[in-house]
Amino acid sequence: MHLIPTPRKLELKSGFYNFEGEPKITKEIKRSFLTDEGYRLTIDENGVLIEGGSEKGVYYGEVTLKQLMFNYRGLLPYIYISDEPEFSYRGFMIDSSRHFFTVEEIKKIIDACALFKFNKFHFHLTDDQGFRFQMKDYPLLTEIGSKRSASEFSRDENIQEEYAHFYTKDELKEIVKYCHERYIEVIPEFDIPGHTTTLIAAYPELSCRGEKIEPKTKGGIFEDILCVGNPETEKVIHAVIDEMCEIFDSKYFHIGGDEAPKTRWVECPKCRAKKDELGLKNFQELQGWLMNEVSEYLKTKGKTAICWNDALKGGNLDSKNTAVALWLEKNNNSIEWANAGNKLIVECNLPLYIDYPYVVNSLEKIYKFSPKKLKGLTEVGANSILGIESPAWTEHIKSFNELSSMCFPRWFAVAEVAWTGGENKAYKQFLSTTQFFCDILREMKVPSGAKEEWLGTPQKKISQLLNYGRRTITPESVAGFLRIQKNELLGGDE
Ligand code: ACM
Ligand code: ZN
Repeated sequence: MHLIPTPRKLELKSGFYNFEGEPKITKEIKRSFLTDEGYRLTIDENGVLIEGGSEKGVYYGEVTLKQLMFNYRGLLPYIYISDEPEFSYRGFMIDSSRHFFTVEEIKKIIDACALFKFNKFHFHLTDDQGFRFQMKDYPLLTEIGSKRSASEFSRDENIQEEYAHFYTKDELKEIVKYCHERYIEVIPEFDIPGHTTTLIAAYPELSCRGEKIEPKTKGGIFEDILCVGNPETEKVIHAVIDEMCEIFDSKYFHIGGDEAPKTRWVECPKCRAKKDELGLKNFQELQGWLMNEVSEYLKTKGKTAICWNDALKGGNLDSKNTAVALWLEKNNNSIEWANAGNKLIVECNLPLYIDYPYVVNSLEKIYKFSPKKLKGLTEVGANSILGIESPAWTEHIKSFNELSSMCFPRWFAVAEVAWTGGENKAYKQFLSTTQFFCDILREMKVPSGAKEEWLGTPQKKISQLLNYGRRTITPESVAGFLRIQKNELLGGDE
């Protein structure tokens, strides 16, 4: 039988429940003894009984039933399943800034993720190459920020044509509603203070130098970031948050904080004055202060901020209202952060970045990943992990088919770890289940990567290296990947 994620307890009984048309389903909420997302599924001669700790639990019972129906088309085995997830945060991320995906495409990915019980969709909406959110109060953010003059991400993609896309508020509301129906929380990301070329392109006064720049056409880390010494910056940040919060009703709100070089701040009289006025030792602390200010603002709206772990470098991040997303493992304080009992979301680039080639982040590595076994983590630290998330950065993912075939089947393995907590030991069985669900996704028009890629046989590995994502490997085609490796080698310092 093929189920992803694997239920905690499953007893197959002898006999089959035969039905015509739809099975008879009884649903009950049992708050007293099931966890919120926990459920029990019983199939016997009376039909199907789904008991959930809440509506969510009942929903996950229905998802399991749906998977069983894929397995046993037309009849169902007598079975008893008792199940609940290890992690409350089971996330996937899509970057719609570097390359844009339509609402229909996003919905197809959501459908596939819902089938594997993901419950957080982190939507990366703003970055150097495109501001994809429709803003009313600062309209140039969309008018100027959503357009770049070309796309020059690699030798494979050097297109001298305008690339202009954004989501209207109605489209985003539609995505949020679609996710609600699948018990998925949509977490927007407004990445600050770095990765903000598009904001500066729209309103140059938001940068330290105040010079006009254009939205970027290539990937990378850029030195022009928001000027913290300028009071206008905070006004714009609040305005974007206000408008995003009208659409996204999530508990969490991602404020980025990654890859923000301090080059401009160091030379900016306003930023220097701000640092001194606040009595801060250095510019990393100034970033920590900014993240805390924005976190506080989000708190007034009942939200918890998420920051990439770069924001820990100042050592002054407010632990009470912020969750940290660990993407770079080396030389940062994320483990200490969790060991002190603070919220951590594990998104280690190795093995969870799905834009890396299969040969680097293989299906097997993801399947065998155990977040609670990260080096240095104490018991308190392990218990502070909210869950895991797998990002799809899209510098080198240009189309829906490419996106889908990078994500799947690797997101099957992410779903498995997110639900079971890791320590997964049945990889052979998982491979046959993977093939089964690749076929199901094909019927849903969500293509998976080629079998040779995810199977990762040694011979294939060599050819994959030479042909990353069916493209010839060049320094440019893996620039994003190499950049992150370099960043990691340098200890994450800009
Ligand atoms: C990141 O990959 N810059 C979070
Ligand atoms: Zn400045």
